[in-house]
Amino acid sequence: MKEKTLNAGENASQRSGSVTVLAIETSCDETAAAVVRRDAAGTGHILSNVVRSQWAEHAPYGGVVPEIAARAHLACLDDIVAEALSTAGADHDHIDLIAATAGPGLVGGLLVGLNFAKGLALATGKPVVPINHLEGHALTCGLTDQVRPPFLLLLVSGGHTQTILVEAVGHYRRIGTTIDDALGEAFDKTAKLLDLGAPGGPAVEKMAATGNGDAIPLPRPMVGRAEPNFSFAGLKTAVRRAAQAASKTSDEQQPADIAETSVADICASFQMAVGDVVVDRTRHAMGVFEATTRDDENRKTLVVAGGVAANQNLRDRLTDLCDATGYRLVAPPLSLCSDNAAMIGWAAAERWASGLIDLDSEIGFTQTARARWPLDADAEPVLGHGRLGAKA
Ligand code: KG4
Ligand code: ZN
Repeated sequence: MKEKTLNAGENASQRSGSVTVLAIETSCDETAAAVVRRDAAGTGHILSNVVRSQWAEHAPYGGVVPEIAARAHLACLDDIVAEALSTAGADHDHIDLIAATAGPGLVGGLLVGLNFAKGLALATGKPVVPINHLEGHALTCGLTDQVRPPFLLLLVSGGHTQTILVEAVGHYRRIGTTIDDALGEAFDKTAKLLDLGAPGGPAVEKMAATGNGDAIPLPRPMVGRAEPNFSFAGLKTAVRRAAQAASKTSDEQQPADIAETSVADICASFQMAVGDVVVDRTRHAMGVFEATTRDDENRKTLVVAGGVAANQNLRDRLTDLCDATGYRLVAPPLSLCSDNAAMIGWAAAERWASGLIDLDSEIGFTQTARARWPLDADAEPVLGHGRLGAKA
């Protein structure tokens, strides 16, 4: 481990030197801790990245139960943080900042992680840095591919589906968002409907691999629209109808009893529709991005982030789109698409380097957990968006 390089009292608008961050992520159903270093050249190093999934605890209920999530975070966070420190070969003396996700997400879990971070910060005399989970996803490309703003971001996760103009660290302008379900939610509901288990996205992707994407006609909501938003509720309803049509049981209360080939065709057709919608909406956002961005070097960079960015079919479709439009596509490795604490630590390091963290201030201690915390606070709310518990 490198020695501590950060001096309390530093408040320059751009900071140099290296910074080492211990980060905690507990916004949904993964308990995660990581140690990340940003060196003086601005390069990121993941010294440890520990993620514990809670799926086994939630599986009997068919979805994430907020109360169970909070308790499960509480039960293991101590061990996860200790593992992150020991894997990194670090003790508290090596850590400059303690970062924790403060939102958006499930408040119970957020409170567990954020209060743990505050306690640790008080005990060790380090600053605590509350981080927006979405900013973690948004900036991961700097950690993995050295990609810095400005760039166009397609954020696709369990609670969000947005196109965002990332102007600089801390400066985000939303272009489009979903007016109803998030894309990850649509994958999860499709999986539930077809009795594929959880997590839904990977299960649908696996089944789709053996299906025919042209087998079932499904709608392409919002395609061709002049407005920039997404919608997936109609697609979900169409998938339900297709499942009912293919089911051998007429009782809607029972799990649909569908032949495996039909399930594969529904999944493949769903993925095909999703690809068409995302490509169309991203192409629309590219037009907005090009009209508003002047930086030539980065001008044509599309970053895809969030859990659904792990979907290979979507990555292939975006690769084709970028080939056709002259964009560079940047997609994090699969392990950094889904929720993790390395991205939270990196966001804290980037905010520190950009002079957005006042080390002398107690502000980190006063900020509390936020169920909703949009990246672009000035963006207009859209009709229908904002389901309870969504990471909006
Ligand atoms: O970013 P994330 O881990 O958590 C949130 O911030 O929401 O995203 C989780 C979402 C879930 O809906 C999950 O089903 C979806 O990402 N997901 C996928 C895949 N892997 C995860 N969706 C489609 N294909 C995948 N391979
Ligand atoms: Zn996430």
